[in-house]
Amino acid sequence: MVKSSLDRLPLNDGYTIPVIGYGTSGIKNEEAEELVFKAIMRGFRLIDTASWYRNEEGVGRGIQKAINAGISREDIFVVSKAWKDEMGYEQTMDAFQRSEARLGLDYMDLYLIHWPHEAEGKNVDTWRALEELKESGRVRSIGVSNFNRGELNELLKEGRIRPAVNQIPVSPGNMNADLDEFCSSKNMVIMAYSPLGAGKVHKDKKLMTIGNKYDKTPAQIALKWCIDREVVPIPKTSHDERMKENLEIFDFELSDEDMDTINNMGQKLAAKRSSDTNKNKRHGSRR
Ligand SMILES: NC(=O)c1ccc[n+]([C@@H]2O[C@H](COP(=O)([O-])OP(=O)(O)OC[C@H]3O[C@@H](n4cnc5c(N)ncnc54)[C@H](OP(=O)(O)O)[C@@H]3O)[C@@H](O)[C@H]2O)c1
Repeated sequence: MVKSSLDRLPLNDGYTIPVIGYGTSGIKNEEAEELVFKAIMRGFRLIDTASWYRNEEGVGRGIQKAINAGISREDIFVVSKAWKDEMGYEQTMDAFQRSEARLGLDYMDLYLIHWPHEAEGKNVDTWRALEELKESGRVRSIGVSNFNRGELNELLKEGRIRPAVNQIPVSPGNMNADLDEFCSSKNMVIMAYSPLGAGKVHKDKKLMTIGNKYDKTPAQIALKWCIDREVVPIPKTSHDERMKENLEIFDFELSDEDMDTINNMGQKLAAKRSSDTNKNKRHGSRR
């Protein structure tokens, strides 16, 4: 059972990833230092950024501030991504170097292809750069974001290293069960972006009803549901009290019945955890 935000899940390359992260999309560079510092001091250990967010410098300063305050660099998991116009072997090598410099880190924990490219061969060329970066030790793990089954299959066929994660949108009522199962079968962890439905879940009546049983908010129920599915949610907030709220999810257990209700909220959703499936069995089946 996951006990805190400091717990980790195994990745397919031997590294581990924190069970929950802090998303920084929409956070301005000027605000990022303080917010990222607060998030880490609150207990988040995974920080998700991207060149596209134009806040890597602020994010890097926030991480450094937390390190200066006594948090070990090894305990912080930093994610960035190559944008579409940074794809292709040479372009991605250069883009990584720019992100690395802006973040001011000796190594990155995870580097992702932000979106698949429509041009023939571009995803594979970009993947070659990521493989080299991993082999050089400048990044520990590599993965993708917004890739569908076909795009993943191309990398599995052409690449030497299997993506460790696929970062895709996941929230109650919005999950692609087919892709979820495919990633599980290939031992890739799913990172859930927009796990709060980009701010919509707090108005959801079903989640409110479930939340009332546990004295938890719909946002807390949505995040706990992700964690119970071994999906890594990366909620974004610019508010300190919501950072706290989004981490107060390790002191209760959702019942199988409530997991089923949430699993069945979306048409694209397949019940991964049914009432007659115990958690240990489910853990075993994903890896
Ligand atoms: N790979 C990709 O293509 C991709 C795409 C989108 C996002 N992402 C990543 O995923 C992260 C999260 O996704 P997201 O920002 O789209 O959506 P999200 O985390 O689902 O929702 C963020 C919204 O929810 C609000 N919120 C946060 N905590 C709350 C709470 N406890 N109660 C009520 N409202 C709450 C936030 O408002 P306040 O800030 O005002 O609190 C914000 O408006 C991003 O920051 C980014 O790192 C990746």
